Amino acid sequence: MHTDFNVLENDTYDKYLSPLKWEDNFLKLLDQRILPHNEEWLTLQTKEDVYNAIKLMVVRGAPAIGITGAFGVYFSLIEAIKENNTDVLLEKLQKDADYLKNARPTAVNLSWAIDRMINKINTLRCLKKIDLLRAAERETLSIWAEDINANIMMGSLGLALIPENANILTHCNAGAIATGGYGTALGVIRAAHDANKNIHVFSNETRPWLQGARLTAWELNKLNIPVTLIPDSTAGYLMSKHEINLVIVGADRIALNGDVANKIGTYTMAVLAHHHNIPFYVAAPVSTIDILTPSGKEIPVEERDMEEVLCFLQKRVAPDGVCARNPVFDITPNHLINAIITEKGIIYPPFSQNIRKLFN
Ligand code: MRU
Repeated sequence: MHTDFNVLENDTYDKYLSPLKWEDNFLKLLDQRILPHNEEWLTLQTKEDVYNAIKLMVVRGAPAIGITGAFGVYFSLIEAIKENNTDVLLEKLQKDADYLKNARPTAVNLSWAIDRMINKINTLRCLKKIDLLRAAERETLSIWAEDINANIMMGSLGLALIPENANILTHCNAGAIATGGYGTALGVIRAAHDANKNIHVFSNETRPWLQGARLTAWELNKLNIPVTLIPDSTAGYLMSKHEINLVIVGADRIALNGDVANKIGTYTMAVLAHHHNIPFYVAAPVSTIDILTPSGKEIPVEERDMEEVLCFLQKRVAPDGVCARNPVFDITPNHLINAIITEKGIIYPPFSQNIRKLFN
């Protein structure tokens, strides 16, 4: 993958709306739980800080939690580097890696980035401690820089799929703050806007965390991209009235056969789009494709606390004693997807065959 560190040299927050900052061995994360009304940055310096930030959704979105997880391995190395026996050091790192991966199980970018860090450290195990630390820090920054570059590339490739004057539906937040910067699905939307395609976005509010209402609407507003917020249940009606021309979403994990795990409600949008003959696109970097998972059936789906459903903005709305279900992702089967936009090209059906080709 092409690593161009320039994307990290300028002000990545202003230019790419990155949700991370790396300052003197401290990781700063934009606290996404309190957006859009408060823009606050939390400072992290241990693997426990990283685990909690991912688990509690300070940072969310598959690529963003992957990059944060890579910093978690770096913090773990800072602790373990005192160990003189390299085998013991690597054992400690592996234990911390397993701990970090457990923070959220569905997005494969988390384990992908953590494994990449562990492999790098393993390969460079003979280096002097100071050089090993430097190399690990550089690997973390590469993962981040590569992600921004991948998103920019997806934006320019995905442009071909966006007609002039399109009304585009998106679900959840697959924007800059869900990634290293620039965004996946919203990256394609941003590229289309910058190409003067006169697009307009419908953003599903995305219960229960309201990523669409709080984050996507905030991001698009900041970029001056016209956006209209709708309740999740409104999309079908608008499709039936020909008010939506295409759907574009991100992904947390794409199986080898092209089945896609993404925010709960994505599957519903895909079924609706299929019924109304509307193209349904997924934009995701290659790091989201998990070739070791044959199909969506094998993707672990995170189920979070039912309080998230029983309450609205921390205030209880359901009666006491009522239970709720809260699976936070669903699986969209490959036959409902028209194309997957990656930085290495647009993948069309048959996905099993074409994903294999991409990896060969
Ligand atoms: O629970 P979240 O907010 O982490 O879920 C995020 C999504 O489902 C996004 O669509 C996905 O991670 C793609 S992010 C570019």
